Amino acid sequence: MNFEDIKTICVVGAGNMGHQIAVCCALAGYQVTCTDISQDMLNKAEAFAKSYLPERVSKGKLTQDQVDKALANLRFTPSLEEAAGVADYVIEAAVEKIAIKRKLFADLDRIAPSHAILATNSSYIVSSQVADATKRPDKICNMHFFNPALVMKLVEVVQGPHTSLETAQLTMDLCAKLGKIAVLLKKEIYGFLVNRILSALAQEALYLVDMGIATPQEIDIAVTNALGHPMGPFRLMDLTGIDLSYYSAMERYQASGNPKDKPSPLVVEKFSKGEWGKKTKKGYYTYD
Ligand code: 3HC
Repeated sequence: MNFEDIKTICVVGAGNMGHQIAVCCALAGYQVTCTDISQDMLNKAEAFAKSYLPERVSKGKLTQDQVDKALANLRFTPSLEEAAGVADYVIEAAVEKIAIKRKLFADLDRIAPSHAILATNSSYIVSSQVADATKRPDKICNMHFFNPALVMKLVEVVQGPHTSLETAQLTMDLCAKLGKIAVLLKKEIYGFLVNRILSALAQEALYLVDMGIATPQEIDIAVTNALGHPMGPFRLMDLTGIDLSYYSAMERYQASGNPKDKPSPLVVEKFSKGEWGKKTKKGYYTYD
């Protein structure tokens, strides 16, 4: 496939990441279909696009013409067949559970045209863990965006041992077309670059709270004011989702068997109370 042949993109998952990745691709001129098993998530994603894009015109960041084109490029459907059946490129941004991702990749392999690349936006899981659920491992890679995907510039592209050079290159080219700055990892490693660094910081921050040394709010004040981070680790976990912190730690623990990889007591408490951060209006902070 040549880069110019990529015209239609399917985004699987309309959640925290998927809805913004879909808007980002539509703004870059692609025909985008976003799909999710939850009609409620699709409705929210569509409502977001319809309010966010016109707001960008009022802010002087986009023209009315760009917004009209982006909205015309965007579709939402609960049907995976409809969304992936005509896609040249698929970005999977579903829940961070390996069994679900493997099933999805097997379905996508059956549904998507044979030339289509299937990328995963997983935060931690390397694509070799899903590539063997398909008959096109050479067309599988990681394409990892950051939250909020419309704002954060970086995308990590990971070329697994099964990923062809062509797939890695086309994905890097796609990132550039989306206005992103991409880094290419030529070897797979759990958590890639940024989430490994971030999780070391978050683990230490959680340890300090679990030990009763400081509150999440105090730690956020310390990190923003001493290190210049735009958000402290707890506000950031609220943004990315405490459910994501829980699921990724559980996946890691199940793979390693190392008790050190278990989610911290505070994450378990928040997860079981359903206080998952901004998306549930309560996490370490409360939101209107
Ligand atoms: N969606 C879309 N755009 C948003 C947004 C959102 N949720 N939140 C803020 N923005 C936009 C605003 O529209 C504004 O755009 P403009 O300047 O072009 O008008 C710009 O971001 C700045 O917004 P605000 O002035 O309202 O707020 P802040 O200056 O506080 O910025 C922030 C908000 C961009 C989220 C900033 O706090 C930040 O950069 N935080 C750190 C985010 C981060 O670390 N992300 C990586 C997380 S790790 C990850 O994603 C891993 C993955 O695997 C989960």
